Amino acid sequence: MEQTFLMVKPDGVQRNLTGDIVNRFERKGFKLAGAKLMQISNELAKTHYGEHKDKPFFGELVEFITSGPVFAMVWEGENVIATARGMMGKTNPLEAEPGTIRGDFGMTVGKNIIHGSDSAESAEKEINLFFESSEVLAYSKQD
Ligand code: CMP
Repeated sequence: MEQTFLMVKPDGVQRNLTGDIVNRFERKGFKLAGAKLMQISNELAKTHYGEHKDKPFFGELVEFITSGPVFAMVWEGENVIATARGMMGKTNPLEAEPGTIRGDFGMTVGKNIIHGSDSAESAEKEINLFFESSEVLAYSKQD
């Protein structure tokens, strides 16, 4: 079954939006296969956002994502990568549609509440970067 990596960013955790965000994916029908509240190290942040290392906002991005706890998750279900991206809304919350997570809760492109893998390749890479294989469970087989 397809899996994706989603992460409530420090602004979402601080604003107590974690439960609402988890609830949205549960109600949609996806299965939570792994989750943890964690503090991202500088090293992990630089690896995770490596593709943005030459962007002018890279320093700001690393500083923000390491500024407080994040809630890292693995979700699974049919077409979960693209569907979760749609539920998150556009990267810039001011352009995100109402009804999406960023459209409902976000105001700035830096503090945009949630991260989600953008492809099957990045989902696999990000899941392996944030989770040990023993931390990703397969309970969806029971439904
Ligand atoms: P995310 O999906 O986590 O992946 C890369 C992040 O870079 C993106 O969400 C935004 O939060 C962030 N980002 C993109 N553009 C800018 C920008 N102009 N200034 C600050 N952060 C940005």
